[in-house]
Amino acid sequence: MKKRILTGDRPTGALHLGHYFGSLKNRVDLLNQGYETFIIIADYQVLTDRHDTSLIEKNIVELVKDYVSVGLDPSKCTIFVQSKIPELAELTVLFSMIVQTSRVSRNPTVKEEINKMDLEGNFSLGMFSYPVSQAADILLFNPNVVPVGEDQLPHLELTREIARKFNSLYGKVFVVPKPLLGSEPRLLGLDGHDKMSKSRGNAIMLKDTRETVLEKIMSAKTDSENKIKYNPTTKPGLSNLLKLYSLVTNESVKTTEMRFKNGNYKELKESLAEAIVKFLEPIQTKRKDITNSQVKQILKMGNQEALSVSAKSIAKVKKAMKMYYGF
Ligand code: TRP
Repeated sequence: MKKRILTGDRPTGALHLGHYFGSLKNRVDLLNQGYETFIIIADYQVLTDRHDTSLIEKNIVELVKDYVSVGLDPSKCTIFVQSKIPELAELTVLFSMIVQTSRVSRNPTVKEEINKMDLEGNFSLGMFSYPVSQAADILLFNPNVVPVGEDQLPHLELTREIARKFNSLYGKVFVVPKPLLGSEPRLLGLDGHDKMSKSRGNAIMLKDTRETVLEKIMSAKTDSENKIKYNPTTKPGLSNLLKLYSLVTNESVKTTEMRFKNGNYKELKESLAEAIVKFLEPIQTKRKDITNSQVKQILKMGNQEALSVSAKSIAKVKKAMKMYYGF
């Protein structure tokens, strides 16, 4: 049988190079290797830390455009929206009965999110329990592999535990999925310190213009040595720029290091900015051609496909639980 992957994102805004090399590229590669691919746009999950819903619909549309423009061919994969699949909510209820609160409270990613937002002691039940809902996102579709970033590994561990627990209670219904990390789970931002992220303002966005890219790269943090050498420990900022160059030009870091060995930081930065612009160009060109009505069509088809898988899946769950009633 064809292997299946499922992964997804929260629709909270535009994507950047960290997303691209951390997960999008991986997804495109897997899709092209013939994996059956499901991508969930987790709109309910956005509500874990905010009540403002005004941007969600727009962000969903933008996200689909990002997906398609980086090469996720919508005729070959299923892109769907979480809130359009009621069975996900049903499965979340069932899972919440077989998982202990003490287990959920040990999730380092949730803890970090709560810390980051100063939500201490004042966060929603949905924030606390979203990893259980994410387990439903995953298991309802029975994927073999879940390509994710490092921060999602605790959620995957919980998902695997829930799958095993359910299977041992009610019979083998769920595949126990394996996580798969992208090739660059730790691409740093231009501050050379934190992981690339939009909220930290240290990211190159997929839709950045030439001027923006140039400006951002020229002011990227390095060090005062002005000596080009790849060493992420002693020269994190500079090494990250070399890494970025190697990624966007698809050459090894070693080759990039040799290429710039005798140059200075300014030369490296100028070449890097050009290389990034060149890398982004086809993505941006493709993005411009995608209309809102095409996005609508993609999601309509995706939701339909996801609904048909979900209906079968939830019937299997209820039969196993002897709750597939005749009335
Ligand atoms: N939590 C993921 C993120 O913030 C998004 C997500 C929701 C997800 N459901 C998923 C990822 C299922 C993988 C599988 O990026």
